[in-house]
Amino acid sequence: MICLVSSPTHRGRFITFEGLDGCGKSTQLEKLAKVLRADGFSVTVTREPGGTATGEKIRNLLLDTATAGLSPLAELALMFASRAQHMKEVIQPALAEGRIVLCDRFTDSSEAYQGGGRKIGSEPVLALHRLLFGNLQPDLTILMDSEVSASVERARRRNIARASDGSRAEHDENRFEQESRAFFGRVRQTYLAIAAREPQRVVVVDARGPAEETHARIVEIVRRKLKSAAKTA
Ligand code: TYD
Repeated sequence: MICLVSSPTHRGRFITFEGLDGCGKSTQLEKLAKVLRADGFSVTVTREPGGTATGEKIRNLLLDTATAGLSPLAELALMFASRAQHMKEVIQPALAEGRIVLCDRFTDSSEAYQGGGRKIGSEPVLALHRLLFGNLQPDLTILMDSEVSASVERARRRNIARASDGSRAEHDENRFEQESRAFFGRVRQTYLAIAAREPQRVVVVDARGPAEETHARIVEIVRRKLKSAAKTA
């Protein structure tokens, strides 16, 4: 199989956060970054789609509710276009410097949303990942599991709050937040199937309780992972 990136030097640690829209991922990621920095690690916080100037342009196109009629395959290809740029400009250089990269969403999002939600299936998503990135995988993925209904409602409330402060860019729901409960049900099932398939990499964290409890659990999981990685290094 050809792989279009050179074999990654992987001295740092690559940790991704996944979950449904509105599950509290971004807040947890920021809180974890603070803890790890206080522990003395160099941390890069980034996100997908986006994370680079080009990626943010692709993100605007993907999330804009005015983007009508985008085909599922075009959507998938744009997610990977953003990811390829992100990998080259941000993720690989940071890992090569030995940093911890905390990334809000990665290929599991494509598998869950485009593969599951849009019904493209997992295999084309995994094949694209292999083609572009070979066997580069996160060292750890925190999957924040939440109820479909609670998550969708929370995302809606968040968007209404944003709309009331008048900022145009965040004005309305993003294209994904307009999707149906059935769509998010498929996204969640695909996430859980990924976790069952790759239990070494993916840890499911119940995101339904108080944020402080979720934070404590995430810190415990990440610290344990960093310790065991240090032992095997
Ligand atoms: P965002 O507002 O960042 O949502 P969240 O804060 O919940 O992460 O929007 C990103 C959206 O893009 C989100 O609905 C999931 C979607 N997405 C995909 O469909 N496929 C992907 O590969 C990625 C990275 C994101």
